[in-house]
Amino acid sequence: MSQVGNSSASRDIAYVMHGYTDHEAHKVQGPHILQGGKGIYVYDDTGKEFIEGMAGLWCTSLGYGEERLIDVATQQLRKLAYSHLFAGKSHDPAIDLAERLIEMAPVPMSKVFFNNSGSEGNDTVVKLVWYYNNAVGRPEKKKIISRIKGYHGVTVASASLTGLPNNHRDFDLPIAGILHTSCPHYYRFGQAGESEEDFATRCAAELESMILEEGPETVAAFIAEPVMGAGGVIVPPKTYFEKIQAVLKKHDILFIADEVICGFGRTGSMWGCETYGLKPDMITCAKALSSAYLPISAVLINEKVSDAVVKNSGKIGTLGHGYTYMGHPVSAAVALETLKIYEERDIMSHIGAIAPAMQKRLQSYADHPLVGEVRGVGLVGAVELVADKATKDSFEPAGKVGAFLVDRAKEHGLILRKIADAIAFSPPLIISSKELDSVFDRFDQALEDTVAFAAGL
Ligand SMILES: Cc1ncc(COP(=O)(O)O)c(C=O)c1O
Repeated sequence: MSQVGNSSASRDIAYVMHGYTDHEAHKVQGPHILQGGKGIYVYDDTGKEFIEGMAGLWCTSLGYGEERLIDVATQQLRKLAYSHLFAGKSHDPAIDLAERLIEMAPVPMSKVFFNNSGSEGNDTVVKLVWYYNNAVGRPEKKKIISRIKGYHGVTVASASLTGLPNNHRDFDLPIAGILHTSCPHYYRFGQAGESEEDFATRCAAELESMILEEGPETVAAFIAEPVMGAGGVIVPPKTYFEKIQAVLKKHDILFIADEVICGFGRTGSMWGCETYGLKPDMITCAKALSSAYLPISAVLINEKVSDAVVKNSGKIGTLGHGYTYMGHPVSAAVALETLKIYEERDIMSHIGAIAPAMQKRLQSYADHPLVGEVRGVGLVGAVELVADKATKDSFEPAGKVGAFLVDRAKEHGLILRKIADAIAFSPPLIISSKELDSVFDRFDQALEDTVAFAAGL
């Protein structure tokens, strides 16, 4: 047996299996251990300060050290640390949060099903879609269509919905009955001479061809993020969702909006559905729902689906689905307080005031020789690095230059994330304009370092 050192790093390497990590490389590189956070800043075990340019994983919307959330969690822990929602049991935090979400929903919604993560939320969605179609006497209508590069999580069903090869490879996924249609990334998949609107028309036509080929009577639902996040911050082309929704309506297919990243302000409206005119039957939300202070997600379900689910549970005696920690009272209390803070501090006005500056600063990189495309909306965006601006050729191997830039950004005190060679930005929603300037000043330095690196490749 090898000797494990006393340091946190060596114990991490010895004992922790990380998500999304090359564990062989990790043995050499070791972990980056964070120990504190305040506002938009986090601090590592050497005391170095970083701007959290990704709000963790697109989630710490209110930043770190928000005392109101800490107080509410502490009070709820003292009052009722745990209770569940099975067999009709309930508690006020879950009831209040469900009511608040129904009030806030971008389209009329009827009921809320709580889960602990985005992945669990989307697994709930898949099961409700199946349960619903059995309830309404259409047992053959079960297939679900998602999109290439869509990200919906990592549990067995949600990883199947996810349209990224790394989430399928060697996991024997996707499961049967889940299909992936075209990715609506105009810069990458638009054809020569094709306008953005024409590209959107083609994406909708490709979706319809898939539905017709499978048989509309077998296709139950379509799921989409308003803006694709982990697939590379892909903003939908103009007219895309209106054309997609027309196809879904024509073939009586449920529409699911995955608002796990977009929900609660990220795209400049409270919901991505509002930014892009989506009218979904179900919505999954998580992340900024509790500012990530505690795990919680929610599936909002419209009347059409929830009525059928309620009736069927009466007919067969139960809705046989639920999680021990669904709507956990402490998480629900924190989420409710998060939503109160958004309202009281008028977070939407703050985002409205600051987002144009973020998008303008991002756009300023469009002419940079290493940058192929800049994309974004609200307080989310990406800069895609390319080897050749004219041909849009990517660097080889994919991700190497992006990884270098993200490493340099870290050196300069900025945490960002690379998605292949797209560099994503998703700062805490509370970021001030001065702090936003610091994000880009640090990024400028990292980009400059990367120019020299890329030239040497
Ligand atoms: C759009 C979207 N859906 C679902 C998920 C999965 O959420 P979780 O990691 O909480 O399971 C994510 C995570 O990033 C996401 O971005």
